[in-house]
Amino acid sequence: MDLNLLGKRALVCGSSQGIGRACAEQLADLGASVVLFSRDREKLDKVREQLNTSAGQTHTVLLADFAQPAQVKTSVERLLAESGPCEILVNNTGGPAPGRRTVPIPRLLSTPSTCIWSPIRPWCRRCCRACRRPPTAA
Ligand SMILES: NC(=O)c1ccc[n+]([C@@H]2O[C@H](COP(=O)([O-])OP(=O)(O)OC[C@H]3O[C@@H](n4cnc5c(N)ncnc54)[C@H](OP(=O)(O)O)[C@@H]3O)[C@@H](O)[C@H]2O)c1
Repeated sequence: MDLNLLGKRALVCGSSQGIGRACAEQLADLGASVVLFSRDREKLDKVREQLNTSAGQTHTVLLADFAQPAQVKTSVERLLAESGPCEILVNNTGGPAPGRRTVPIPRLLSTPSTCIWSPIRPWCRRCCRACRRPPTAA
């Protein structure tokens, strides 16, 4: 399997810490350019400074609160307009607090979620479109 990601760009949601940050580090180590995406510029800038750039790639920071779909949309559209789509999407964010669930499921599902739904909606189609390849000639 060829994991050389040189020339590829990855949007990594929830990448200021934890699993998202670990994904960003791995992707940068494999040669990808990374767009770090969450709420806190200071935290994201610190992560960006520590990402691998040995393949000559550059990393950038994108800000939005995933519980605010309008913010996600605005940021993503700006990214697309300024630098085009990404080939890789890591659709990750903070989850519910650990421990026993205290909110009834219908209410949990109807509240603006910081989980997968908010970031995935505006992004999935655009990223998938960018990843599609024309069929190769037989
Ligand atoms: N860690 C585990 O063992 C584990 C196991 C199973 C599943 N998970 C799930 O995996 C996901 C990531 O876990 P983690 O441990 O890496 O979490 P984490 O350390 O809390 O990191 C969450 C990341 O999401 C960002 N984030 C949170 N809320 C956000 C919001 N409203 N808008 C934008 N960014 C937001 C945070 O950035 P800022 O706060 O800086 O904006 C941070 O970068 C969670 O959904 C968790 O439930 C984790």
